[in-house]
Amino acid sequence: MEEQLIQIKNDAMSLLLEADKEDIEQIYIDFLGKKGRLTLAMKDLPTLPIEKRTEVGKLANEIKNILEEQIDDKRASLKKTPASHTSSSANPHIDVTLPGNKPSVGSLHLVTQAIDEITTIFQTIGFTKVRYPEVEYDWYAFGALNFPEDHPARDDWETFFVDLPIDPKMGPVVLTPHTSSGQVREMLKGELPIKMLNIAKCYRRQSDVSHTSMFHQFEGLVVGKGVNISHLKGVLDFFFNSYLGEQRKWRIRPYHFQFTEPSFEVDVSCGICNGTGCKLCKEGWLELGGAGMVHPNVLRAGKIDPEEYTGFAFGWGVERVLMMKEGLQLDDLRILYSNNLDFLKQF
Ligand code: PHE
Repeated sequence: MEEQLIQIKNDAMSLLLEADKEDIEQIYIDFLGKKGRLTLAMKDLPTLPIEKRTEVGKLANEIKNILEEQIDDKRASLKKTPASHTSSSANPHIDVTLPGNKPSVGSLHLVTQAIDEITTIFQTIGFTKVRYPEVEYDWYAFGALNFPEDHPARDDWETFFVDLPIDPKMGPVVLTPHTSSGQVREMLKGELPIKMLNIAKCYRRQSDVSHTSMFHQFEGLVVGKGVNISHLKGVLDFFFNSYLGEQRKWRIRPYHFQFTEPSFEVDVSCGICNGTGCKLCKEGWLELGGAGMVHPNVLRAGKIDPEEYTGFAFGWGVERVLMMKEGLQLDDLRILYSNNLDFLKQF
């Protein structure tokens, strides 16, 4: 019986905490009214053995007084501040024994998780992670990368230009369109050999199932003596085996970039349709980005002698390799940035 009384008190108190004007009279009726829970419970008192009756009767009366007092207080405070719910000053009698609300525990965003995993894989084979400016001079984004002035290829990147004065040497200011902007910055540090991993936000005017206007790329750059294509292929193989598993296929296709020669595009077999072809991929292959041997002019822009040193570079989308993770079934990249908690909470 005591337990029942305490339960009644706790139930009433938690309802009171949340109550507004209309609720309060209903709470009175439900607990203290003629057929209220407390009133009915008190009616059972005479059925108790004599020794218990006084004790339990006392408890019941105490609870009745508390509830009456609380309901009166609540009525008064709601009159004073009609809009306020239950601030502690409006309702000083808080039952500290009531269980609190559990804080919801968040998790790292899928893209952050992917960046961490990619970083760890490349660090295992000796790459050092760096970051370069998100808002960058045209020279690092294009000029130093062997793009002639007014080359139409600059349009491929559909770059966002920032409304700032044009620097006579460095040109206009842009939102970094690719992580390749970090290549010459890294070279100009003057330390060789280079094994750089640059992961950063990039911006382009684009949006469809496999493009967003802000996305992430990771760029590898290796410069040293005797670096050749077989080293590039070895690094690609190591990355794909580690990140996607040994069963997945990847390939390189001849391509053209201004800043690599020869250049390749890198594709991986599509993880959504298992290579049979779907709305996301091209006939079972999804293009991840580019790669190639660093163009001598780029080495020169970075004050490195191309007669002595060679290098390779690759740059791919983080979101794209993430989409290719087996079992994830991410077929529209834009969901990553829709802030949809039902989606995000699953990871
Ligand atoms: N920067 C190129 C792009 O964004 C990719 C690339 C990086 C190509 C490095 C070659 C070497 O498409």
